Amino acid sequence: MSETATDRQPVHEDSDFVKFWNEVLAPKFIKFKHVLVDGLTRHSEAIFPTLPVKEGDRVLDVGCGFGDTAIKLADMVGPQGTVVGIDCCDAFLDYARNDAQARGVENVTFMRGDAEIALPEGAFDFVFARFGTMFFVNPVAGLRNMRKALKPGGRMVHIVWRNRADNPWLSTAKDVVLKFLPAPGDDAQTCGPGPFSMSDETTVRAMMHAAGYDDIAFRRVDAPVLVGHDFRDAIDFQLTIGPAGEVFREAGAQAEENREAIEAALGQAIKRQRLAADGIVMDSSSWVISAINPDQ
Ligand SMILES: C[S@@+](CC[C@H](N)C(=O)[O-])C[C@H]1O[C@@H](n2cnc3c(N)ncnc32)[C@H](O)[C@@H]1O
Repeated sequence: MSETATDRQPVHEDSDFVKFWNEVLAPKFIKFKHVLVDGLTRHSEAIFPTLPVKEGDRVLDVGCGFGDTAIKLADMVGPQGTVVGIDCCDAFLDYARNDAQARGVENVTFMRGDAEIALPEGAFDFVFARFGTMFFVNPVAGLRNMRKALKPGGRMVHIVWRNRADNPWLSTAKDVVLKFLPAPGDDAQTCGPGPFSMSDETTVRAMMHAAGYDDIAFRRVDAPVLVGHDFRDAIDFQLTIGPAGEVFREAGAQAEENREAIEAALGQAIKRQRLAADGIVMDSSSWVISAINPDQ
């Protein structure tokens, strides 16, 4: 695929946050790609046919990860349209590019960038993000860059997790792990504000207004998500990724010393969950948030 003007981003040094995604989180996400992509897709598949995307559109997918939504969007815009997937993580972009090539999808380009610093401006009909915006350290800056990437009157949709209580797939394991280990300290290395940073509708409405959006709407989506193909996979997943994984990682040697007891307690909690054909599923709940760029 040839390089276009939108492939180029201003050169800037990676923030500590971007380095953390590349060095610490990417290998963990790759190990559990089978769980993550399946689970996250359950929150986008119902709304995909309703997205305001038509043939010939130019679309931007922010925090595109392994690229599956960007590739679906490329199918929706057809050969006359184009999709740019942007992510701050090189390893995810490699998967995305290989997947697009393997499927023969030619109207999608993947680029590396930090959405909080800059996005291509003023050209896109539609901007999308599935579970990417909650990690912005400065959410208004990231959301504003997404708005500035839109044409006047263009729409955006982003999907974020709702509250902890309705997301036991993330919160149950953390509650278990915290019985054995201390909560991460103020100086903990984290993925950013975290999965529940956009769970409160009032707060996110205020962020979206501050970022310049109009016509902001929230739609709740509930879906059971896979947490592992079997108990071993689910325990490993919970101790590697997400809020429980963060507590475990930050506790270092103390976590390893308590591993046996933690795994046994997690096993008990996971045994109480539903079994499905492809593994163990737990409940999850998201907001699908849509808005318009009113700029003329
Ligand atoms: C939970 S993953 C979701 C990935 C993908 N959208 C999906 O639904 O499968 C969050 C993604 O956001 C990316 N990300 C986080 N902060 C970012 C930023 N400031 N700029 C670009 N990408 C970012 C991460 O690298 C990661 O791929």
